[in-house]
Amino acid sequence: MTAKLFIGTVVNPLALGEIQILENVAVAINKSGNITSITAPNSPDYERTVTCESIVRLPKHAFIIPGFIDCHIHSPQYKYAGTGTDVPLMNWLNKYAFPTERRFLDDADFATKTYSRLIKRCLSNGTTTACFFATIHLFPTLNFVSLIREAGMRAFVGKVSMDQNSPEYYIEDTNKAISAADEFVKAVLETSSDASTSLVTPVITPRFLPTCSPQLLKGLAAIAKKYDVPIQSHMSEALDEIEYVHQLYGKPDPEIFAENGLLTRKTIMAHSIHLSDDDIKNLRDHGTGIAHCPLSNYFFADGILRTRHLLRSGIKIGLGSDIAGGYSVSILENMRHAVISSKILASQRKRTIGTANKESDETDEISYKDAFYLATVGGAQVLNIDHVVGTIEVGKAFDAIIVHCADDNGNGIGGMEIWSDDTVESLFEKFINLGGVENIKSVYVAGNKVV
Ligand code: GUN
Ligand code: FE
Repeated sequence: MTAKLFIGTVVNPLALGEIQILENVAVAINKSGNITSITAPNSPDYERTVTCESIVRLPKHAFIIPGFIDCHIHSPQYKYAGTGTDVPLMNWLNKYAFPTERRFLDDADFATKTYSRLIKRCLSNGTTTACFFATIHLFPTLNFVSLIREAGMRAFVGKVSMDQNSPEYYIEDTNKAISAADEFVKAVLETSSDASTSLVTPVITPRFLPTCSPQLLKGLAAIAKKYDVPIQSHMSEALDEIEYVHQLYGKPDPEIFAENGLLTRKTIMAHSIHLSDDDIKNLRDHGTGIAHCPLSNYFFADGILRTRHLLRSGIKIGLGSDIAGGYSVSILENMRHAVISSKILASQRKRTIGTANKESDETDEISYKDAFYLATVGGAQVLNIDHVVGTIEVGKAFDAIIVHCADDNGNGIGGMEIWSDDTVESLFEKFINLGGVENIKSVYVAGNKVV
């Protein structure tokens, strides 16, 4: 039975660099929030479909797109988002990240306020799914899960694990870290009893190699295997981090993660900037995906992700805001930075190898359509939920953004101008390049209106 019907234009990511425009279709959603049909106006079924009690008719200059997916975001760091990007990564953790995250242990009001604001901000920016790092604290992180469930967001949540090279106020004992991670996963799974609570998936979350002993890494890998849950961490992010790991173990990050059983088909590795050909093969063979955090990478990574090269090599890639390493929760903004940083990379390589003005299959550039694909389907692939979300398609959940480009008088909203010769495609391109929260009229997760 149709519970909700949306009549308007759909813009879907079809493949890398390709979009699909379905003009004035009727999208029917059932009670479970799944898309049951998408009917074109000239189809014989159309009239029958459009008799539903709850109909949303999109105005002119509006369209439906799949919700954005943020594959890497630190929820406690939202407290200082927009500030504190003045030092390299390893110093930044001690100066900003660890002291802030420590506060979530015993200041419940602060934790609830910060987390609630973040969830609201993500949803209003069109992020319908996010993959979060919380803190090392078990109960505050379970409270975070409850807040996400109340808001109706789809999410992956990790209680962070770390047992070495960390300040004494923010570190766990190895055995306790392993049992707390187990308890966290168990508690989230045990409370995932219905359609709404099961929108949250627990994630095993070793912070990164400097702060996790081999014993902890192995213990966490065993838990991920036992419950068949995803794993997330940071890999080959910045030169100071890589040097640190090299001093500890004399090996590159991917080798260590693989040795300890943490590179799986369900692993999400943030950053992964400095990869050798062997590392790339290693990731591909394990089916591990990358959370590309372009904005954060400008500040900490000492390099630009070779997005196009990695995609060509068969690696799954989604986008991540990496709050507060990246200062914006907006996936739109991160899409723009994914494009711009790829252009910088391409121009650097042209200068180095003298290929200016030559069209090349080996280009490093990605387009706004590629970025849209990464923000939706790519993220869904990295999180292994591409059978559920990522496109507006029959059989998938209705996780969607209703975009309005013009007001009732036909004037462009926010940064967008409307001209008489605009097409759906030109409006969509403008939204990706110039749009913002002002254009995000409403947001749905699993068929429920969350904004
Ligand atoms: N590596 C380890 N922890 C962090 C973190 O909180 N942010 C970023 N960007 N990198 C990390
Ligand atoms: Fe991060």
